[in-house]
Amino acid sequence: MKIIDYNEIIVKTFSGLEDILAKELNNLGAKDIQILNRAVKFKGTKELVYLSNLHLRTALRVLLPINQFDVYNEKDLYNKIKKIEWESILSPELTFAIDSSINSSPFNHSNYVALKAKDAIVDRLRDKYGKRPNIDTENPDIVINIHIFKNECTVSLDSSGFSLHKRGLRQAQIDAPLNEVLAAGMILLTDWDKKSDFYDLMCGSGTLTSEAFLIASNTPPNLNSKFSFMKWIDFDSLLWENIKNKALENILSPDIRFFTSDISQKAIAVTKLNMRVAEMRKKVKIIQKDFFDTMPQGNTGLIILNPPYGKRLQLDENIEFYKKIGNKLKFDYSGFTCWVLSGNPEAIKYIGLKPKKKINLLNGKIECKYNKFDMYYGSIKDIKSKTEN
Ligand SMILES: C[S@@+](CC[C@H](N)C(=O)[O-])C[C@H]1O[C@@H](n2cnc3c(N)ncnc32)[C@H](O)[C@@H]1O
Repeated sequence: MKIIDYNEIIVKTFSGLEDILAKELNNLGAKDIQILNRAVKFKGTKELVYLSNLHLRTALRVLLPINQFDVYNEKDLYNKIKKIEWESILSPELTFAIDSSINSSPFNHSNYVALKAKDAIVDRLRDKYGKRPNIDTENPDIVINIHIFKNECTVSLDSSGFSLHKRGLRQAQIDAPLNEVLAAGMILLTDWDKKSDFYDLMCGSGTLTSEAFLIASNTPPNLNSKFSFMKWIDFDSLLWENIKNKALENILSPDIRFFTSDISQKAIAVTKLNMRVAEMRKKVKIIQKDFFDTMPQGNTGLIILNPPYGKRLQLDENIEFYKKIGNKLKFDYSGFTCWVLSGNPEAIKYIGLKPKKKINLLNGKIECKYNKFDMYYGSIKDIKSKTEN
């Protein structure tokens, strides 16, 4: 049995970003794209696996399913995993790790599934070579993904080998930073033309600005990463070099301005630390400022606000905060497009502007509203007539 088969590829993402991921895949030339729950499936090739890992901003992992079977108990799982020809991908010299997830299956713990699968793989290779490969959970060569849903077990090779949100830029963080994949998805969801200025005015650790800069400069999100597929027996280094060189040629210096601010001094220090790409440091203006004291630096632009979730605040304090945000946008940011991510669905209604779009996103476990507001030019009276509470 050929173990590495590129026919079907599954890319995992966050809830709410499936359509954007499908769009990204379409741009890479993927065919037969199907949207799943927190994932997208398509007909693959080796080239698409390499391209996906390098370029997809909303992907968490790129998986190649290699086997699917029904499973009823632990012995059954062990036997069926042991039957797979692991020697065609793993040797005693390589390390490996197992990533498992279970969803209403006969098993209770994903750790236990991983342990059984590991035993089966190690036993098969020991029988074959008299030696076994070691487990390495920190930096494994080969990563195997096992997913069990009811009685259906899917075994996949993880071509990424790590969660692709780890762009290698973030040095430090303050409370509640956005995951990089979510931040990139939020920017792509705005349909930003990359020609108008970008404003991140409650920047925290600066994740949105970093992702916006990578997008505007055509910089692949994981340019310097070592992916697991590089350890596969069929790794095509020439193909990879070509793909990477082409990506490097396409990087450009964005001809727009980035305004990044936060009320907190600590957040600004952390954001500065995280903007490590030299070009980014040159282009991005980072200042400590209360959002309510900021002023636009041009006539138009894209603003993304990720206000604090305010769990510790009372609802009426949150309502006041959102009312103030709405007023600030109405009075000072006419001509701008603003998107607000809020984990407080009740309070966001008080922004006092009619959302042009409403998207549901999950930030970790928090259900969020991601709303678009267009700030019209015109008298305050005109604006008021276009808004609703
Ligand atoms: C949820 S965090 C933002 C996280 C950020 N998107 C990231 O990825 O790290 C909210 C931020 O809003 C900032 N903030 C709260 N009130 C503010 C205000 N009036 N003006 C500017 N920033 C404010 C906080 O200091 C905090 O850094």
